[in-house]
Amino acid sequence: MRRHLSRFRTASAAFGGPLERRLRRLSSLERREEARAFLDSYHDAVGTGAAGRARRWQEVRRELSRADHYEHTPEELAYGARVAWRNHARCIGRLFWESLEVVDCRGTSDPDGIAERMDRHLRDAHADGRIRSIISIFDPVRGTDIPAWIESDQISRYACHRTAGGGWIGDRQNIEDTMTAISMGWHPQDEPGPFDLLPWFIRDRQGRRIKVDLRPGAVREVAIRHPHADGLAALGLRWYSVPVVSGMILTIGGIDYPCAPFNGFYMGTEIASRNFADARRYDLLPQVADALAIPRDPSNPLWKDEALTELNRAVLHSYGEAGVTIVDHHTAAHQYMVFYNREQRAARRVAGDWRWLVPPQAGSAYDIFHLKMRNFHPVPNYYRHRGDDGLRLMPWYGDGYRRRPRIWRDRIMRRWKIWKRMAW
Ligand code: ARG
Repeated sequence: MRRHLSRFRTASAAFGGPLERRLRRLSSLERREEARAFLDSYHDAVGTGAAGRARRWQEVRRELSRADHYEHTPEELAYGARVAWRNHARCIGRLFWESLEVVDCRGTSDPDGIAERMDRHLRDAHADGRIRSIISIFDPVRGTDIPAWIESDQISRYACHRTAGGGWIGDRQNIEDTMTAISMGWHPQDEPGPFDLLPWFIRDRQGRRIKVDLRPGAVREVAIRHPHADGLAALGLRWYSVPVVSGMILTIGGIDYPCAPFNGFYMGTEIASRNFADARRYDLLPQVADALAIPRDPSNPLWKDEALTELNRAVLHSYGEAGVTIVDHHTAAHQYMVFYNREQRAARRVAGDWRWLVPPQAGSAYDIFHLKMRNFHPVPNYYRHRGDDGLRLMPWYGDGYRRRPRIWRDRIMRRWKIWKRMAW
């Protein structure tokens, strides 16, 4: 009985924390399969000879059977991070997957080191407005050993303050993180406003939360103005120039990197049609319509469309004027089709998630809207939670030729894995 209990306790210690609950749980066999599939694709891509492949696989297999873990070489890591982007079904900007700059930060595991590196990351990514896509990859999970990781979804976010009347000012999505920040001694510089940059949080190896304050000036922001309607500037809208996503787990060849913050540049709709317009975010459409003198009455049922279009125009215009990289949704949708066709020419199928790929403006005006797509959840990839977008991740063999029995076996194995993951 005692043995049983203590086993239960170690298991819950290993799997009970906020990160552990999100990590994929792979059996040794699954890990081995993913490692093999990944190394094969890597060696195909770089053209390693048969002897080199065999040697590397020997090594990895031995490590896996010894410790259920292996270390990627820097080249494998860089390749894996780029392919993870290429595989990510929800990203419309994948045309540029090969240009991702990968910074190998393994070995940096103290919170100070991580904070310092992220400061540098922000600076390099912003460059002089010509945004570079960068990923900083810190330590992977090694067996039951959880490294330090970043708890915040993004490095820069705006706070949300409750007002005395029960309302709120700021980005409602971050209400909880704002409360956490305040409980740890943070407060806005002046009066609470709608665009107060929050500190971000690291969890160290022991699971302790550490607050990291942004260095003043580390995050560059763009003030939003409309090219000809002056009324909009009076709303005092602004947004940061670089989104650094820090809440996703990178999985490569059966190894998970929970601390792998990466950035791209914005597509205008992310800010204008979602962050500013969503009812659960800034909910600004009525104010924007009023500021632009768009009538909001039954005679004008399309007032939201008008406000959305003008808000998008203002965001694109302001980033353009500030010299900060941004892409409009029509160009992004076109680039996606270029990516799609390129992948087909390379004999690869593209995993796509329609609900995420079609931009929230002018949906049917793009080819993507009419494109038949399927998300077959390939690895390497980025995911948030094993019970959600991480559930179905597994190697995809559908691009190569396989005999019938092999195809059937793959299909059954796929079902079995998903069933097993749901049952756990
Ligand atoms: N949608 C998120 C935001 O508005 C950013 C997600 C990543 N976007 C990107 N363009 N890489 O902050």
